[in-house]
Amino acid sequence: MKIDILTLFPNMFTPFLEESIIKRAIDNDLVSIRVINIRDFSTLNNSQVDDTPYGGGSGMVIMCDPVFKAVESVRDDDSLVIMMSPSGKVYNECIAKELSTKKHLIILCGHYEGFDERIKTIVDMEVSIGDYVLTGGEVPALAVMDSVVRLIPGVISEGSLESESFNDNLLDYPVYTKPRVYNGLEVPEVLLSGDHKKIEEYRNSERNRVTKEKRPDLLK
Ligand code: ADE
Repeated sequence: MKIDILTLFPNMFTPFLEESIIKRAIDNDLVSIRVINIRDFSTLNNSQVDDTPYGGGSGMVIMCDPVFKAVESVRDDDSLVIMMSPSGKVYNECIAKELSTKKHLIILCGHYEGFDERIKTIVDMEVSIGDYVLTGGEVPALAVMDSVVRLIPGVISEGSLESESFNDNLLDYPVYTKPRVYNGLEVPEVLLSGDHKKIEEYRNSERNRVTKEKRPDLLK
C-alpha cells in the first residue's frame, strides 16, 4: 500500500514514521509513506496557501489551487482521497479495515478555519476522528494512518489482530504479565493453569463482560 499525506506541517509526521511498528512496516516494504508539503505547490508570493474567508469571519481558509495541484501530483487510478475534518464521517475500526484494502490513500490535513469548500469536489471521503475539534488534521491523519497500517497483512501477527478490541464488536480481554502477585494484586488463577481451553473460555467471557460494562452500545 502507498499512503501520501498532504499537510502544511510535514515535520509533525517525521518522528512518528521513525519508530516502532510503523517504521518496521516501512522498512519491510509493506507500506510506503510520503509526506508532502502543500506549500510547495503554491504559486503565490511567500508560498501563500491561505486567505481570508469571503463573507467575512475569523481565521484563514486554505485555498483551492495548492491543494488541487498537490493532490494531482500524486493521484492515480487507484487513489482514494480522504479529507480529515471534524464534519466527516466518524472513524471506526470498520472504516480502518475498509481502508486497509486500498492500494493508495491520499490523506489531506486541514488547518486554520478549514479548506475552501470547492476542494471537496476532489475528495472521496471526509473523515472525523471524533466529536471534538483539534487544531488541525495532522493528529487525525496519524490516527488513520496508524490504524490502517497495522491491519496490512504482515505488519502485526494474525493472532494479535483476532482477539483485539472491536473484532466481533467486542472489546479486548484483560492481560497480565509477571510477577504473579504485585502489591497483593493477583493474576487470575485460570491464566496460570496451562489449560488452553479454559483460558480461551475465560477470555471470551471477559470480552463480553468488559464490553457490557464499558461499551454496552457495541452490543446493540
Ligand atoms: N480536524 C480538526 N478536528 C478534527 C477531527 N475531530 N477529526 C478530523 N479532522 C479534524
